[in-house]
Amino acid sequence: MDTTASEIKGYDYGKTAVSPVSLQELELLKATVLFTAADEENLRKAGDVLTEQAEAVIDIWYELVGSHPHLLFYFSKNNMANLEYLTAVRKRFVQWVKDICHRPFDQTWLNYQYEIALRHHKIKKNKTDEIEAAPFVHYRYIITFIYPITATIKPLLAKKGHTPEEVEAMHQAWFKAVVLTATLMTYPYVRAGEF
Ligand code: HEM
Repeated sequence: MDTTASEIKGYDYGKTAVSPVSLQELELLKATVLFTAADEENLRKAGDVLTEQAEAVIDIWYELVGSHPHLLFYFSKNNMANLEYLTAVRKRFVQWVKDICHRPFDQTWLNYQYEIALRHHKIKKNKTDEIEAAPFVHYRYIITFIYPITATIKPLLAKKGHTPEEVEAMHQAWFKAVVLTATLMTYPYVRAGEF
């Protein structure tokens, strides 16, 4: 049975602090990645394709993290990966795939991107699941992770009979959305006033 969002432990969408980034600034970021109304539509379409494959999406990313000790490090303590942690985060990650495609990029969405940022930073990492692991994810991997979570999505977008042009349009929209969210995730890492 599908887990509903409200049953996911630690998934606090709509209940988190207000983002320090304003909606006007978000609009300028959207303009900067050339995110258009057509992208919005293509992202929804991508969401329809990816929602039923969300577990497969996360399998691919977890395989990637699991096969790179320097990434698994962030889910580990004393070189031991914490399975409870990986499992708890996985559910929220699946939800994120659905959210990024289907939720409007409004104030609530913006606020949750800030929460995700804090959960990678030493301010809040490990707190949601009350575990002990690496104290924060290094900034450099937030940026570099954009590539794998973009590249690995394309074959999945192509699985539901869309034309190559449609797949490309959905992929571009996904790429832009990931760049936006990753940019918002860097906020706590940047010196005050310089974001
Ligand atoms: C573009 C880059 C990334 C995106 C979009 C992303 C997205 C996410 C999302 C959506 C969550 C769950 C948020 C929630 O609690 O609702 C999460 C949690 C987490 N991610 Fe990432 N992530 C990125 C990069 C990374 C990298 C490079 C690592 C290193 C392996 C990493 C490690 C983690 C960890 C350890 C958590 C759990 C944090 C906690 O203690 O709450 N992430 N990420």
